[in-house]
Amino acid sequence: MALYLITGIGGFIGSSLARAILSRGEQVRGVDNFSTGKRENIADIQDRIDFREADIADLDAMHSACAGVDFVLHQAAIPSVPKSVLDPLGSNRANVDGTVNVLVAARDAKVKRVVFAASSSAYGDTPTLPKHEAMKPDPISPYAVAKLASEHYLTSFYRCYQLETVSLRYFNIFGPRQDPSSPYSGVLAKFITVMLRGEQPAIYGDGEQSRDFTYIDNAVEANLLACKAPAAQVAGQMFNVATGRRVTLNETFKLLQGLTSHTGHPKYGPERGGDIKHSLADISKAEAALGYKPKVDFEEGLRRTVDWYRGK
Ligand SMILES: NC(=O)c1ccc[n+]([C@@H]2O[C@H](COP(=O)([O-])OP(=O)(O)OC[C@H]3O[C@@H](n4cnc5c(N)ncnc54)[C@H](O)[C@@H]3O)[C@@H](O)[C@H]2O)c1
Repeated sequence: MALYLITGIGGFIGSSLARAILSRGEQVRGVDNFSTGKRENIADIQDRIDFREADIADLDAMHSACAGVDFVLHQAAIPSVPKSVLDPLGSNRANVDGTVNVLVAARDAKVKRVVFAASSSAYGDTPTLPKHEAMKPDPISPYAVAKLASEHYLTSFYRCYQLETVSLRYFNIFGPRQDPSSPYSGVLAKFITVMLRGEQPAIYGDGEQSRDFTYIDNAVEANLLACKAPAAQVAGQMFNVATGRRVTLNETFKLLQGLTSHTGHPKYGPERGGDIKHSLADISKAEAALGYKPKVDFEEGLRRTVDWYRGK
């Protein structure tokens, strides 16, 4: 039975990883400081996990958290572009210094592998689609720079200390437990909660912007595959985690109308500065090296997410 350490276990993706790992009969330890995560996200699994309230900036706490661990799934971060623009030092502390702490602790504890929640924001606003890993990164926000710097640290720890590392560049992950109230939060969490209340969702721009929206189960699967794939194929590398298909916000709104019985119209407003127009991933590298294949498509993911918010 393997022991997984999940940093950021109180968050949307971290708590989903924890449930999936427990359901496979494996052991979970988690750390979180609840800066953006919520206790309620892990309330129902609290007695089945070894949870430690800690900040990843605390190296002693990370050393203790990594003891005896097989795999680290490093999700903890301040996952917000606007917050990073307002407070680049705070963003760097959590998203870069925190990552280096986790890596040092994982190296010292001789964990088998560290898998990191990287971000498609590393690509920046390149017009080239689909985005593939061989493209030159062009991060815009301090958040994107921090995520890219962390990727480089992971690769460096593989090269210098032979700590096996894998970075997964998530593209717009969505699903149950995503916080609809944060500025970075998925547009889908916002759309769904607003439409279930019968209110008008806000669309910035003409709604023709498109995203490679990826249901949470696909991201979970990618993490588990990344722990087990042969080191020669994955160690020190980064992979897109997405679906390879994009949908526009207008199409998404129509699909959600069917699922939520909403009859109104969206509220169109001016485009937001810094928003990228289109996002689409090439997932062939993850398919070849990790054996990754998205299992839940966009429509099914939306259905499951709406059901979850409706039952809340
Ligand atoms: N959701 C997406 O679409 C997406 C896309 C790209 C990358 N990511 C990355 O995936 C990871 C998880 O994102 P999420 O959507 O679940 O966000 P989230 O805010 O729900 O989860 C992040 C968790 O990390 C915790 N945390 C933050 N700083 C910490 C610290 N210093 N010490 C301990 N815990 C800390 C938070 O309290 C929270 O529980 C993040 O690293 C994020 O940058 C997410």
